[in-house]
Amino acid sequence: MEKLVSLAKRRGFIYPGSEIYGGLSGTWDYGPLGVALKNNIKNVWWRMFVDSRDDMYGVDAAILMNQKVWEASGHVGGFSDPLVECKKCKRRFRADQIGGPSTKLGAGKCPECGGSFGNVRQFNMMFKTHVGAAEDESSVSYLRPETAGGIFVNFKNIVDSFHPRLPFGIAQIGKAFRNEIAPRDFLFRVRELEQMEVEYFVRPSEWEKAFEEWRKLVFAFTDAVGISRGAVHELEVPDGERAHYSKRTIDFEFDFPFGRKELCGLAYRTDFDLSAHAKASGATLSIVDKEGEAPIVPHCIEPSFGIERTVLALLVSAYTEDTLGGETRTYLKFNPDVAPIKAAVFPLLKNKPELVAKAREIYTALKKDVPQILWDDNGNIGKRYRRQDEIGTPACITIDFQTLEDGTVTVRDRDTGTQERRSISALRGIIAPHTGL
Ligand code: GAP
Repeated sequence: MEKLVSLAKRRGFIYPGSEIYGGLSGTWDYGPLGVALKNNIKNVWWRMFVDSRDDMYGVDAAILMNQKVWEASGHVGGFSDPLVECKKCKRRFRADQIGGPSTKLGAGKCPECGGSFGNVRQFNMMFKTHVGAAEDESSVSYLRPETAGGIFVNFKNIVDSFHPRLPFGIAQIGKAFRNEIAPRDFLFRVRELEQMEVEYFVRPSEWEKAFEEWRKLVFAFTDAVGISRGAVHELEVPDGERAHYSKRTIDFEFDFPFGRKELCGLAYRTDFDLSAHAKASGATLSIVDKEGEAPIVPHCIEPSFGIERTVLALLVSAYTEDTLGGETRTYLKFNPDVAPIKAAVFPLLKNKPELVAKAREIYTALKKDVPQILWDDNGNIGKRYRRQDEIGTPACITIDFQTLEDGTVTVRDRDTGTQERRSISALRGIIAPHTGL
């Protein structure tokens, strides 16, 4: 983990949030390569679950919502973690991480000072705020703790605008916020995160079939972005440990360096949310699925992916150390579809104007089609290769003296270090398939 966190910072993927002020716990800022990586992940997800399907509707709902949304969904009453406070040093911990929520008193001693704990109490994880100038109960709002809320309140809008038949899904990618008691493990547990969620609405009798389909699709996505299949494991979440809205949940866990932990989840939310919002708002949240049939409240299957954990699992899956040409090197073996930079273009020598001019010409032409390419003429070729390896660039294109004679360049493969001569006209075909063009 230390190596990953340091590489991520040094090479411009991820920085600690508010760093020059000493940071803000549970927040991270994405640098240029981190943004590109995240966008590529989101694009793979959106293509797979929205654009390539006929039964999916995308939304981008407001983060701030009427407080009644979160009352109806059960989050005001129940979105909490068990908290204990040390009587001596007053530090706070999640009870289940140091003793277990089943005990009335926080078990064990304070890991910081050895003091004893007070009673376990429930701590609501939603960030509360006020909307507008008046700071009273009526202006209370929350930063959404899951993107799902924005989907359920738009169910009626989608039905009214598009008249879908069951099954159909509504998808959203966006920020969510959780005031975690103990943010930790780099991107794993943060207070500001992004989720990619689908609420897939089905006839109540068909939930099991849809659940099984989405179970496979979760792996289709983790495979597509390049998360090691062997490191992802299903965990059937037992009764009593599921979220309040779920009748069945599978957590997909990943072998992170700090242990096997949840990467993403699949839940059967029944009609819990639509029924609760219909009751609280008075809106009709049902659908006439077949002519002449009575309206039904669909049941809902929810695959939910967190971007931070996906980024972390990808970094862990991609991080590789090997020996190449007698030297040890570190490289990120990203799947080219998610690699932030698709190719780097180099003139062999910086001080040969004819090579630089030709390289610039090739770079400029390629960049029009494939924006995610880099120019590098700094240091010797070996150093440039290492720099690209470290950020996971799949191909390095070098313009040399032979290029001027026969219009070929060398294309060097990140993983094997092998070089091939290819014609300039073939370059777009090598790189563009990984850009979603
Ligand atoms: N709408 C369902 C839902 O929010 P969840 O299991 O609480 O379910 C879904 O969260 C996913 O969001 C998790 O599997 C994880 O990837 C991500 N996630 C949740 N809390 C997180 C946190 N504090 N830090 C990073 N990712 C988080």
